[in-house]
Amino acid sequence: MPTLRTVFFCTECGNESLRWQGQCPVCQAWNTLVEEPTQRTGRRGGAASSARERSTATSVVRIGDVPGAEVRRWRTNIDELDFVFGGGLVPGSIVLLGGEPGIGKSTLLLQAAARLEAANLRTLYISGEQSAAQVRMRADRLPESASTVAFLPETDVDAILEHATELRPDVLIVDSIQTVHAAGVEGAPGNVTQIRECAARLQRWAKDGGCVVLLVGHVTKEGAVAGPRTLEHLVDTVIYFEGSDTLDHRLLRATKNRFGGVDEIGVFRMTSGGLVPVENPSELFLRQRSAGSGAAVAAVMEGSRPLLVEVQALCARASYGAPQRATTGFDRQRLALLLAVLEKRVGIPFGQLDVFVNVVGGVRLKEPASDLAVAAALVSSSRDQPLPFDAVFLGEVGLGGELRLVGQVERRLIEAARQAFRIAYVPAAVAAARAPAGLEVRGLSDLSTVVGELFQLPA
Ligand code: TYD
Ligand code: MG
Repeated sequence: MPTLRTVFFCTECGNESLRWQGQCPVCQAWNTLVEEPTQRTGRRGGAASSARERSTATSVVRIGDVPGAEVRRWRTNIDELDFVFGGGLVPGSIVLLGGEPGIGKSTLLLQAAARLEAANLRTLYISGEQSAAQVRMRADRLPESASTVAFLPETDVDAILEHATELRPDVLIVDSIQTVHAAGVEGAPGNVTQIRECAARLQRWAKDGGCVVLLVGHVTKEGAVAGPRTLEHLVDTVIYFEGSDTLDHRLLRATKNRFGGVDEIGVFRMTSGGLVPVENPSELFLRQRSAGSGAAVAAVMEGSRPLLVEVQALCARASYGAPQRATTGFDRQRLALLLAVLEKRVGIPFGQLDVFVNVVGGVRLKEPASDLAVAAALVSSSRDQPLPFDAVFLGEVGLGGELRLVGQVERRLIEAARQAFRIAYVPAAVAAARAPAGLEVRGLSDLSTVVGELFQLPA
């Protein structure tokens, strides 16, 4: 007999607790635990029978005896999307596409469905949010023809699977997992138990039939709605669609991928005719460059791709209280470290200054390789002297103020040369021989040499 009890789920990470707590013991998020009923099947005395059931269902094999499976891929022919997937969709896999409402998830998947149809792969688009007429209206705006995409407005997971089993699509799109519910499972659609159960059933269907299931999951800025995060371990691939408030571009980012690299990004622009891949993201991010003080260009790696982005720093006299340090797209701790190094090793005081750092275009600088660009921007702003407009900065700053070597220098420099930069400031350990045509590579040993070279130091 199934017994009913309630447990508490963290809406951030999906951790299950038996009692309510203010802070999730696993992901440390505050006020994210919600109470939900759960079903447990009583297994008293059932151990023997379950063992018997199991023995017939599965068998043990040696890994060497398993025929080597070459990974087939179905290309959506939206290059940026295929790139993020690692080359295309892998049959039998389940993918989660997360993102804030309105970012363009449904548009992207409808475009993908249309292109899959054009490549003779059958698709079924399930929507619990939109009617057929609304989807038709959306389809009419797109450059691709979605006329052969099968559409079903349904929210019951069993009904969805029934239709899918009958229709046998190669790719099943469920938009969104928050609207789907499973009969016999407690709770409203969108709560953790429902989402997990529905996703689990869809996953089994994908694996058994060798099809692809694409799930859409909404996340809010606060991560408050139960959903995608609790699903991450259940699916094969997780991609997030993110935007920025200032530009109309969107970043597609893989955060988990059983069949490809993570941290690859694809860049799109939302236009009146659907999403358009951006072929030259660096150019997009550098389009509105500021020529004033406090701006520096960093060469970062996003997955396997080099990308040039502008870092802006603003140092202004603190008017009252403790000086502020605020960052967008850059780690605050790392900023504190760079300020301390600049103060101690180069002798530039920031103690009386408010310091703001902003990375343009919604990009996040995670690599230490962008240290030098941030440091250069900080010095430039504090002295109110602009940096050379055609310079790019690359290097990790150590606690001693030394410039340290970073990975994949060559690819970053090639990208800088491609974007018509003339000079690259890099750690001395980078051999100048690696310079691509048109780019002067200045290898410098430490931060004070860089500052001495770029700014006239007061006597
Ligand atoms: P949508 O795909 O519905 O977002 P999500 O599924 O993530 O909630 O995209 C919604 C936004 O995109 C909406 O504001 C309208 C806009 N849009 C365009 O600008 N151009 C288009 O061609 C389409 C289809 C939508
Ligand atoms: Mg949508």
